[in-house]
Amino acid sequence: MNSNVLHVQMSESKTYESLIQKITSNTVKYTDQELSDKRIVFVIHLDEIGYDLNILGWLKTLPEKSFRGSVGSLIVTSPTPYHTKSFAQDVILLANKLGMTFIGHSVLEIVKDYENFKTWQKTIDLSLETIAMNQGKDLLERLRAFETGKLNNLIALHASSRKTSNTLTLWHMVRKYVTGLDIREIHIENGTVVDCIGCQFQTCIHYGKNHSCFYGGIMVEEVLPAIETSDALVWVCPNYNDAISANMMAVINRLTVLYRQMSFHDKACYAVIVSGNSGSDTVAKQLIGALNINKGFQLPPNFVIMATANDPLKVLEIEGIEKKAQRMAENINIFCQNVK
Ligand SMILES: Cc1cc2nc3c(=O)[nH]c(=O)nc-3n(C[C@H](O)[C@H](O)[C@H](O)COP(=O)(O)O)c2cc1C
Repeated sequence: MNSNVLHVQMSESKTYESLIQKITSNTVKYTDQELSDKRIVFVIHLDEIGYDLNILGWLKTLPEKSFRGSVGSLIVTSPTPYHTKSFAQDVILLANKLGMTFIGHSVLEIVKDYENFKTWQKTIDLSLETIAMNQGKDLLERLRAFETGKLNNLIALHASSRKTSNTLTLWHMVRKYVTGLDIREIHIENGTVVDCIGCQFQTCIHYGKNHSCFYGGIMVEEVLPAIETSDALVWVCPNYNDAISANMMAVINRLTVLYRQMSFHDKACYAVIVSGNSGSDTVAKQLIGALNINKGFQLPPNFVIMATANDPLKVLEIEGIEKKAQRMAENINIFCQNVK
């Protein structure tokens, strides 16, 4: 793997041009090079309504598997305080479908007046722009240094009924074809994981050091220790109101205590999503936002399998679903065995 980083930029921004130049000084600008087996940073400049149509137009032209073997990250700037996360989620989902892996904490956001760096400035005595620049350089260093090793164990988390759930059934279809991994399933029974109360930072750190959390329960006894020692996670997520269900979201929120004790950068994150009618991609983007951009899990290529099925177990009747599940399992097998 060439350790040169390719930087893909389709739009210009006068405001941020000199900062981007400083951050990307050691990278090669994309013209029309091959895109597989590369380290790639997307430099995205949003407009006032939150789009960079040039990058979307370019992504649309790329054939399947264009980013095979490539690892990515993003720098997203905005002339407003908004849109950086939602646009990043769109680009990550599209590029991931084309075969790209994303490193954990894959996005550097730069919003209007560098406002998002003010929290950092409470503890770092530098200008907001310098903090942004340092974080950009760190992002590129992490992109260069990213390595995958063999993954040995995988935890699937679900809150679904074994008898009726399409999403759990789809995961079991995938699971049949997964090889070489120790697989464990954890059932989050309805209401057993109370949502995070948002303890003070110091309180959270205190509980975390004692491998605990204010609320205790199955999260502390079973889920967090399993995640701590896992190499890969599968989030089994039915679409509930175009969002992650409350039980699964509570698990994600309660991860905070572990996140403050360790990095998730070496852990891979997969997802299985079923909707009754439509909207699985909205759930996938939520997972990308919460788990890759925010909590820092890595996103392996083609991290998600999505389907649409309404009545109980109807997923079994979708044409070609077994093949699709098998392909998802093959992606997991290849990534986890680190076979390029
Ligand atoms: C509380 C709730 C909300 C739901 N919201 C949606 C929705 O917004 N859009 C949709 O397409 N399906 C929605 N569904 C249907 C499920 O996504 C559908 O049943 C799918 O098969 C996945 O759920 P399952 O794994 O429990 O079978 C909802 C189901 C429930 C129980």
